[in-house]
Amino acid sequence: MRMVDIIIKKRDGHILSKEEIHFFIKGYVDGAIPDYQVSALLMAILDHGMNMEETVTLTDEMLHSGDVMDLSAIAGHKVDKHSTGGVGDKTSLVLGPLVASRGAKLAKMSGRGLGHTGGTLDKMESIPGMRISVSNEHFIRQVNQIGIAIVGQTGLLVPADKKLYALRDVTGTVESLPLIASSIMSKKLASGSDSILLDVKFGQGAFMKTLDDARELAKTMVAIGHNLGRDTRAILTDMDQPLGYAVGNALEVKEAIDTLKGHGPKDLVELCLEAGAIMLMQAGVYKDHDSAIKALQESLDNGDAFNKLKEMVDWQGGDVSYIENPNKFPLAKHIVEVKSDVAGHIARIDALMIGESAMRLGAGREKLEDKIDMSAGIVLNKKIGDTIEVGETLCTIHTNIENYDSIIEDVKKAFIIKKEVVKVPPIIHEYIAK
Ligand code: URA
Repeated sequence: MRMVDIIIKKRDGHILSKEEIHFFIKGYVDGAIPDYQVSALLMAILDHGMNMEETVTLTDEMLHSGDVMDLSAIAGHKVDKHSTGGVGDKTSLVLGPLVASRGAKLAKMSGRGLGHTGGTLDKMESIPGMRISVSNEHFIRQVNQIGIAIVGQTGLLVPADKKLYALRDVTGTVESLPLIASSIMSKKLASGSDSILLDVKFGQGAFMKTLDDARELAKTMVAIGHNLGRDTRAILTDMDQPLGYAVGNALEVKEAIDTLKGHGPKDLVELCLEAGAIMLMQAGVYKDHDSAIKALQESLDNGDAFNKLKEMVDWQGGDVSYIENPNKFPLAKHIVEVKSDVAGHIARIDALMIGESAMRLGAGREKLEDKIDMSAGIVLNKKIGDTIEVGETLCTIHTNIENYDSIIEDVKKAFIIKKEVVKVPPIIHEYIAK
């Protein structure tokens, strides 16, 4: 078999066989096929797409290109959830303890933030002492004992994706549906859980800008999961404003704590309850949606979910006193209110602009090696549908940098204010189970 023939076949719009996809992935990971040939194939895939069978084969080949987590030593059903990335997305820190408090097992590998979106690992590291790297043995023991662990990736999972993603990034081939779907699903499937819930975000602050694109991606990923024997479902959620009020690492941890104590923002609470109900049904803990929601609400009300977060922090070496008393998190030197110049109703809050501004204030990284300021970020005072007066506060910035005037101007522009009354959009737009 020759790589050039595979390139020509896809260039001419034909369907690749299992053997050809195997040859290309194995050859690329082994170093036998050079970047320039893979670049050409990626461009041909971007142009002509892949059918479902090709996409499933590609995912399967990528998934088996490195280590695959074996979670069989953990008793019970292992659930996992994945978000395609948003601004203010602290869902895992709330949802994880919630579902674990009701008997599902969450053995989760999370990622770091890059660009305008944050990462769960960075948020967790704002808790002093918190370890996101633990031994495999500790990871298994922790999930068996308390039902939850959230850590960084262990082992070399999906090396094919590392090489392919880096190449796609510099060859203009990121925006291909089969390539995105296989990239995300190969990593999720390699993480070893029994079921997967995908939170596919759409809107200005998301990877997918429209509901239609998000639906197509979600349906493809759900089909890949089912084809490869894993109960996979998806929700399509709104990212036309940041999730909750807080954006920035320690600020988001504090909001997650508030939420677990029963005082969370409406959109975050609704998302976590609905997603949690689906995960508990996937795990077979509850048969129907209403009993699952009732149980999760009870965990919020009686402190079980909050206690589960404390247990996780304790097991991973974190200082639990910060969870008990969030005022201990250090504050940034400058905490400045951003005032509105106009009156009206908040129609949209550009999550991309808010995410990028938070990053410039110190909360995120442009490059992987950049250092993060855990106390930096933005706390919204208003959300879509709220009224605003001239001189009233839109949001508050938290930063340790000295020159933030231009960031304040950008943050102001992120708020789209209209004269007419604005309806609050639902957080979850669709649920895709098959
Ligand atoms: N996230 C991924 O992990 N892969 C993609 O291709 C796009 C987003």
